[in-house]
Amino acid sequence: MRVCRTREEIRAAVRSFRAAGSFVGLVPTMGYLHEGHMELVRRARAGCDKVVVSIFVNPAQFGPSEDLDSYPRDEERDLRMLSAAGVDVVFIPDVAEIYRPGAQTHVEVEKLSRILMGRLRPGHFRGVTTVVAKLFNIIRPDRAYFGEKDYQQLQIIRRMTEDLDFNIEIAGVPTMREGDGLAMSSRNVRLSPQDRAAAPVLNRALVEAERRAREGETVEQLRDRIRAIIKGETRADLRALDIRDAQTLEPVRGRPPRPVVILLAARFGDVLLIDQRVVSSEGELK
Ligand code: PAJ
Repeated sequence: MRVCRTREEIRAAVRSFRAAGSFVGLVPTMGYLHEGHMELVRRARAGCDKVVVSIFVNPAQFGPSEDLDSYPRDEERDLRMLSAAGVDVVFIPDVAEIYRPGAQTHVEVEKLSRILMGRLRPGHFRGVTTVVAKLFNIIRPDRAYFGEKDYQQLQIIRRMTEDLDFNIEIAGVPTMREGDGLAMSSRNVRLSPQDRAAAPVLNRALVEAERRAREGETVEQLRDRIRAIIKGETRADLRALDIRDAQTLEPVRGRPPRPVVILLAARFGDVLLIDQRVVSSEGELK
């Protein structure tokens, strides 16, 4: 496995893959890898000739009071995991390699970036789309893999890729969970033992809502039910609960004719966790 730290190195590596006719997959990450990331890597390994993984903790997507400095890092361990998974190249730039002095250009998916998590974290998605656009331009993969766990991020990246004609396939990968249902996240290690024990309430609420949606409950009923379940866990501070059209993220009411996505964000101590689930009522086409 090759480790590239500069744009020139990674460009040369991918150029040689292309010259040999290889189909190149990219998995962008911020490191501190867990089984959720590794599922993306496995899919890329199965579906592409060459697999590139990027590790970059992107300052532009963290707000001034957010956890950039405390974001967990372990490069050595990440590299061991990626090597064992058969990754071809890892791109680990430092901040100065990605953001050069004098840069003035940003990429923003206007509407989708400002709703939901974008309201809780102003500027966050602009930072995500700017860095992903840069990674797409530097690496030029044929396909890139993103998790459904960050559902809004996935939809925003799909929109950006289409709007800017990147000619890159975007593959969405289902959320990987711990045995008790908690969605895997690099932030889970920062939970206190009590909060870690409480956090699976998010998935429990989503599973229950999925069942109720199949039985034909309305969006309003689902919302009340989820809120009640999460209220029952005193350690959880529900910060966002939205039910939206799964494709457009437009608001929905009543009994929607198409699949909807339930998006949750809750604080446990000072850790903000998110989770999601796409649900539909019986008889809908998925
Ligand atoms: P990061 O949080 O490291 O996540 C990297 C990728 O792993 C994302 O596509 C995310 O959705 C996916 N992922 C995380 N947890 C997952 C889980 N439990 N199951 C399945 N996939 C999971 O998301 C980012 O980094 C950044 O915003 C990035 C896209 C790299 C841009 O900086």
